[in-house]
Amino acid sequence: MTRYIVVASGKGGVGKTTLAANIAVALAKLGKNVAVLDADVVMANLEIIMGIRNPPVALIDTLSGRLSIEDVLYEGPEGVKVIPAGITLDGFNERNMDMLKSALREIPRDIDILVIDAPAGRDAAMVMDEGQEVLIVTLPTVSSVSDALKMKILGERMGAKIIGVIVNRVEGKPRELSLEDIENAIEAGVISIVEESEVVKEALAYETPFVTRFPKAKVSVEVFRLAASLIGRQIYVEEEGVLDRIKAWLTGLMRR
Ligand SMILES: Nc1ncnc2c1ncn2[C@@H]1O[C@H](COP(=O)(O)OP(=O)(O)OP(=O)(O)O)[C@@H](O)[C@H]1O
Ligand SMILES: [Mg+2]
Repeated sequence: MTRYIVVASGKGGVGKTTLAANIAVALAKLGKNVAVLDADVVMANLEIIMGIRNPPVALIDTLSGRLSIEDVLYEGPEGVKVIPAGITLDGFNERNMDMLKSALREIPRDIDILVIDAPAGRDAAMVMDEGQEVLIVTLPTVSSVSDALKMKILGERMGAKIIGVIVNRVEGKPRELSLEDIENAIEAGVISIVEESEVVKEALAYETPFVTRFPKAKVSVEVFRLAASLIGRQIYVEEEGVLDRIKAWLTGLMRR
């Protein structure tokens, strides 16, 4: 049976797409058959990170009833199947919502895990359903955490299971909320802390996931650890040495 893992957040711009893409690729590297779906038809951008340019057909064509979900699967890094959103100015309407839920049920059976990049805020309800697992992404700030709490409540109301919180873009500054504050506020466990990193921006500039471009960077090691824990495994990945860091810095310089 396919597992559905929804990556959601209260506020936009906290790293859902970045993390959904990289978690999907990390799961594939760990041997799973993975698909990743961009459910944000207003600000679609997952396909960019997954290196797919101008897909001719996308999820919106499925929602209009014109194509089946299998017609809009693209091959991404590490064999991850990518379902781009496509763009509409109108966003979702009620008919689309029903179509989306039935499209999700039509995911090919051989997919072990479908990672869903949810739209920010209330629209996420459209991809949260009974039996689905939800990862909530937040920044270590009061406003982001309070919106994350709203998302948790919404997810539970939809019958989904909240499997944990990912705190993203952590810099270790005193102004940031502590782990304890975050867990107490959201009333859910933090299962991953991802630091603010140049590697993320650098990989994005090359339209690649950071776990493939910089597999030994601290953020990649953390995402591999998280992906492994999602499938009940433990892994050991050695973090980058000074040489890897110089190499990354040089490639950055050469691009400029
Ligand atoms: N750990 C990180 N370190 C540095 N930059 C990051 C990190 N995580 C995300 N970013 C950057 O933050 C920006 C927003 O990330 P992303 O698009 O993944 O957020 P989102 O939650 O999907 O946004 P939206 O709600 O608009 O869909 C991107 O430019 C991304 O490269
Ligand atoms: Mg996004």
